[in-house]
Amino acid sequence: MGTPDIQRDVPLAPLTTLGLGGPAKYFVPAKSEGSLIDALRWAADEHLPVAILGGGSNIIVPDDGYGGLVVHMQIRDLAFLEGGRIHAGAGVPWEDVVEGAVFRGWAGLECLTGIPGSTGATPIQNVGAYGQEVAEVIQRVRVARRDTLDFEELDPTDCGFGYRDSSFKREPDRFVVTAVDFLLRPDGAPTIRYAELTNHVTSGATLVDVRRAVLDLRRRKSMVLDPDDPNRRSAGSFFLNPIVSAEQAYELVERALDDGLASSASDVPRHPAGEGRVKLAAGWLIEKAGIAKGTRRGAVGVSTNHALALVHHGGGTTTELLAFATEIRRCVEDRFGVRLEREPRLLA
Ligand code: EPU
Repeated sequence: MGTPDIQRDVPLAPLTTLGLGGPAKYFVPAKSEGSLIDALRWAADEHLPVAILGGGSNIIVPDDGYGGLVVHMQIRDLAFLEGGRIHAGAGVPWEDVVEGAVFRGWAGLECLTGIPGSTGATPIQNVGAYGQEVAEVIQRVRVARRDTLDFEELDPTDCGFGYRDSSFKREPDRFVVTAVDFLLRPDGAPTIRYAELTNHVTSGATLVDVRRAVLDLRRRKSMVLDPDDPNRRSAGSFFLNPIVSAEQAYELVERALDDGLASSASDVPRHPAGEGRVKLAAGWLIEKAGIAKGTRRGAVGVSTNHALALVHHGGGTTTELLAFATEIRRCVEDRFGVRLEREPRLLA
């Protein structure tokens, strides 16, 4: 047992991709499982709430910051093992895992390139893009239990994975993810499933080609962190793609056709989401509700390249961002009767 290196009043905005929000009253870097446990024990003794911060790419920090202890995950061991197995500490930058896998000719993560953030966050929201989800290749998730401070190794079946969802997300105070084991496919073929990607690569494309194509597509949508991109300060998709009943989707298509928002049903992006459910494209709904790409409200706005990303242009506040998000939700609900749900986590 050690004494945790607790810091006070640490600004959180620089640790997030949105660059917004106030300080953590207490803050501690966790470089090992031991230092994580010391920090959790300290917070329990002090009766303080704890929030876990990874790469800061999917989090919104309120303007008044966080009154408890923020633990910044910095466990960074990374091993590429025989048979396509990868062991990565929660604090490993996600791209290091993807790049190492593609470099070795291991298939399973090539479409998940260019996503900012840390590895420990990937099981929490079951990160997915361009036809892949991390849940497909996760072998085990190592966690610390918040109640007993013991460690457990969870199988994917224990993780309750769904679209941008997991049991970790549903019960955020139960576990802290400390490491993730992946099982990839050595010499496997790349996943070329997503329509937009299919149009962007030639047949016989390698893992390297697919990774490059995905990076290119993401860059066009300002979904790769680029210091020169005016849309760079965002948390990726701000809303989930809504999943509705087939009946609701049908009504929405009818309404879009009646209102002249689409010239044929195929203009309304929809994807089967299992059991008579349909996934709609939130970016499309936002644009058709009258909020064009590039719309601004002071220091915040919609990305000029993707209506689903809200961006901060500098000098803004979280209050402004959340007010704009509320306005967007209202427009979409008034227009289509569909409620959008926020995707990034609010640190509260
Ligand atoms: N669309 C628009 N306007 C826009 C953006 C999109 O009409 O401004 C339409 C597109 O024409 C397309 C459909 O919406 O028909 C889907 O768009 P896109 O392929 O860009 O993907 P998305 O559904 O908007 C999701 C993920 C992204 C992921 C991409 C690619 C969610 C919430 N978002 O976005 O993930 O990169 O697919 O697979 O599921 C993230 O979660 O932060 C994220 C970036």
